[in-house]
Amino acid sequence: MQKITLEELVSFLKEQGFVFPGSEIYGGLANAWDYGPLGVELKNNIKQAWWKKFVKQNKLNVGLDAAILMNKEVWVASGHIGSFSDPLVDCKKCHSRFRADKLIEDFTHGEITGDGMSNEELTQYLKDNNVVCPVCGALDYTDIRKFNLMFKTFQGVVEDAKNEVYLRPETAQGIFVNFKNIQRTTRRKLPFGVGQIGKSFRNEITPGNFIFRTREFEQMELEFFCVPGTEMDWFKHWRKYCWDFLVSIGVDESKLRYRDHEAKELSFYSNATTDIEFEFPWGFGELWGIASRTSYDLTQHQEHSGKDLTYLDPETNTRYIPYVVEPSVGVERMLLTVLFSAYDVEKNTSEDGKVSERTVLRLSPALAPYKAAVLPLIKKSHGEKAEEIFDEFNRHFSTVYDETANIGKRYRRQDAIGTPYCICVDDNTIANGTVTVRDRDTMEQQTLSVEDAIKFIESKLEF
Ligand code: GAP
Repeated sequence: MQKITLEELVSFLKEQGFVFPGSEIYGGLANAWDYGPLGVELKNNIKQAWWKKFVKQNKLNVGLDAAILMNKEVWVASGHIGSFSDPLVDCKKCHSRFRADKLIEDFTHGEITGDGMSNEELTQYLKDNNVVCPVCGALDYTDIRKFNLMFKTFQGVVEDAKNEVYLRPETAQGIFVNFKNIQRTTRRKLPFGVGQIGKSFRNEITPGNFIFRTREFEQMELEFFCVPGTEMDWFKHWRKYCWDFLVSIGVDESKLRYRDHEAKELSFYSNATTDIEFEFPWGFGELWGIASRTSYDLTQHQEHSGKDLTYLDPETNTRYIPYVVEPSVGVERMLLTVLFSAYDVEKNTSEDGKVSERTVLRLSPALAPYKAAVLPLIKKSHGEKAEEIFDEFNRHFSTVYDETANIGKRYRRQDAIGTPYCICVDDNTIANGTVTVRDRDTMEQQTLSVEDAIKFIESKLEF
């Protein structure tokens, strides 16, 4: 596989209609990205794949779609208002602004994350290791101060403290505050999980690396409630489940690694946390966080709301607050790892020795924006029949129709956007109803009836 730089990927995705810079005709908005016709399909397919494996097909789990705006007290109880902050530092010389922990992470190429270090420890590390300003090279920083990442706004017409609301910085709290509702209405016994997909917002100090760290993003979170004392088994279970899921959707396994948090890095309420990291062109970065969160969140909400959030265990007839294991991942980060894993430029040598290149997005068929492309060999002779066949295919799965340019160019176009199968409609189709099915990866062709071609592609969409 040929490596692609981040810049090349950004330009490829814009060119092909996957991701555009946000508000571009007005000069853009820093760190905002819009998903184009192909990007939205790919993103939706990733979300559907997660929902299928973590909610629909998993008999232990159910789903939820909670509101983004929540009562301010939720964020007081969860600790976000008090302590959801990053260590902000400025370079005194060039006035660039950084997250102190990220300076260390970049300096050590991801080997030391700075997570869990106090402001004093961060300051000391910067000094001792000569971590200079990446912009001007000076080693002259301000004191580190805390910067709260929550976006604040007002609900209603009066802009006073009483009407303050926050855009949620994670979807998880919507699940915790609904724990009782869900347990009562589903009559679930422990263990069970609640999955949710939705937008989250963080006023990141240093967003960047394209869609890796943005201020508006989507999360796919599962809060798995279990009996205290069983959480380590479930932690191991979800840690592996997440890894296997990534491999099943085509993420390059050789670029994945687990990073277990050391004791000093763990949040005070967590007894185990692992990040699944992916090797991006700029180094390893967190893709998926799996945390055993003990009974912290439900306990906090019980104390602040005054509502009983305990669970009555039918086997022991005792009441307790369940423990929680949480696998949490960003949709955009998953999309980025899928794209870095799938992008390939293949060199082919023809019989006369000519070398040509073809760009192939080797997406898993389940994730590909289009599953098939219907292409009439010659528009004039085969166009009408091809349109009929396109309608038939499109009733079964997402299909695109293309009749412009020569067939070779059309194949290349589909290879580049990841369409796994091209259906060529020619004289044989008119004569006996068969089509040629071309495989994106091998470029091999087979002749099938329309019905068999649909069945064949459908069989490849399962994962
Ligand atoms: N409820 C736990 C939680 O939110 P987190 O580690 O802060 O944990 C979970 O976030 C995941 O959300 C991360 O592993 C990452 O995939 C994604 N994520 C977090 N901040 C993000 C950002 N600013 N931009 C894109 N994705 C982000």
